[in-house]
Parts: sequence; C-alpha cells; structure tokens
Amino acid sequence: MQSLRVLPIARTLTNVLLTRRIPSSVLTKLESQCQVDLYPGGAIPHSELVLRIAGKQALLCLLTDRVDAEVMDASPSLAIIANIAVGYDNIDVAAARQRGIAVTNTPDVLTEATAEFTWALILGIARRVAEADRAVRSGAWTGWALDYMLGTELRGKQLGIIGAGRIGRAVAAKAPAFGMRVVFSQHPSAAAAGVDTLPLDQLLVTSDVITIHAPLTAGMRHLLDKRTFARMKRSALLVNTARGAIIDEAGLAWALQERLIAGAALDVYEDEPRVHPDLVTLDNVLLAPHIGSATRETRTAMADLAVRNVLAVLGGSEPLTPVP
Ligand code: GLV
Repeated sequence: MQSLRVLPIARTLTNVLLTRRIPSSVLTKLESQCQVDLYPGGAIPHSELVLRIAGKQALLCLLTDRVDAEVMDASPSLAIIANIAVGYDNIDVAAARQRGIAVTNTPDVLTEATAEFTWALILGIARRVAEADRAVRSGAWTGWALDYMLGTELRGKQLGIIGAGRIGRAVAAKAPAFGMRVVFSQHPSAAAAGVDTLPLDQLLVTSDVITIHAPLTAGMRHLLDKRTFARMKRSALLVNTARGAIIDEAGLAWALQERLIAGAALDVYEDEPRVHPDLVTLDNVLLAPHIGSATRETRTAMADLAVRNVLAVLGGSEPLTPVP
C-alpha cells in the first residue's frame, strides 16, 4: 500500500479539478462536498491542465488527459488523481507514488459493457455489418444473391484472448453462446484464473478470432506487428478494444491490404482521434470511435466510482479502487 499525502485542511476547502463534464447526478454529489473547477471546453490542453491544477487537492480526469510529473508538481497539495477509465496509461503512476498521490481507476463497472461491445465488433467484422450498411446506403446493393457479402460463421471456431483480466474473462463467458472455444495467451493472470492457455505465438497461429484485453504497459507496445500478423491465419479476424498502441497500426494496414489476415475491428487507435489513413480506405476493417464502455449506465457508474474515490481520499479514507 502506497503512503498517501494527508490533507492538512478541512473538506470544506477542498478544490477539485474536473477536466470534462460528467453526468449531472454525479456532479451534484461532488459539488455538494467540494469546490469543483469544471474545465468548460473539450479535451483540456496539457498546458491548461498544468495551470488549472494549481491549488487543487483532487484531479478527476479522463484517459485523454496526460497526467505527468509536471502536472503533479504544479499542485503540491494534490492528494488524488481519479481516472474515469479502467486503463491508466495516461498517468505517470510511478511519479504519483513518489509524491504520495493516490491514483485510482474504474474497474468492474465497465466490464460487461466492454465485453458486450467486443462481441458487437466480433459479429460486426465476421458478418460485415458496417460494410453491408454502407452498401445499402450508397445504392451499391442491387438485390439478393447467393454469393453476395459472404461472411464467416463463428460456430466451431477458436477465440484467442490476449489478457485474462475481468474484461477478457467476461468476453470468454459469452463465447459458448456462439459455439466458440476459447484460449487465453499464457500470462500469470491467466494461470491464476485457471483458464486454458497457449503461448502467444501458438494462440496467433491457431485462432480464428483474436481479441485484445490487456493494459498498455511498456512491454505491450506493438505486441502485434508485421511479424505477428504474418503468423496468423489468412482467415483470422483481429479485434482491439484495449489500447491502440498494442497494435502497430501501419503494420496492420499493410497486413489487411496484403490479405495476410481477413479483417480487423478496432475501437482504439495509437494516436486518437487520428486513425491511420490507410485503415480508413479498407473495407475489411470496422472502425469504432473508442466507445467500448459507452452505455449510459456504465459511463454514469464510472463517473460515480471516480467521484467516490475522490470523496474517500479527501475524507481521509483509503481510495476504493487504487490502481495496482
Ligand atoms: C477505456 O478505454 C477505459 O480504459 O476505461
């Protein structure tokens, strides 16, 4: 357990910086106990974050906010950084630990929404849903034909899951409904979960659908690149709802163009909101705008959990969901 900064001042004086609007029911709860500085624009520029954090005890931020040592040092009274996301690669956690600042994320509450969306992408790319929609809208569809817009059936196929955390396991739990067998890539978390595993290379070589549910740590950057795409089945479909940089996007565009793999469905990108220009031109890729957890219920629950973390720490208690 990290040793955390103790606030010398009463809760009535606590100032919170909120970088983006949250559902009003949750905002009201926060405002009833703290002075809230809500950044009124869209994504807060880093320079503005550094300016606005001064004098704040808590930061409620999004995965689009880069929270580094410069931000932390701009507010010596900062006691908690509460990310409204389960991933926290936008935060320099080591720098926060050194300074005794608590860092929290929002696990559990978004597991089901993200798992459901992963299946939407799996089905969407296997049955060419976005492509079919485009064909109807553009008038390219000229009528029913036996061999038109053929997709791939999931029944009897292997789903390879990279990452055996909560979301990966929730995706796996729905696989029997589609008649798919599941293997996870070998990792201590998979061993602890007691699931069937394969070394990553074996998983890539044998899986029909591969889906990523792992955090972006230093060792995960470009885990999947030209070399690994070349190892996959030519019929393989790749799905990513985790973090864009786990895939080398240029390498993926090349693999899709060369038909080294059959298709991909992406919800996350290396440099959001930018998408590699070649991907946008390809029909065998389904592109979503980072909406894995985007249901009304889940986004409210995420904001609520982040606010409860802030109120716990400002009230002198341990955070509810500190990052591991
Ligand atoms: C979304 O990508 C999250 O990390 O919550």
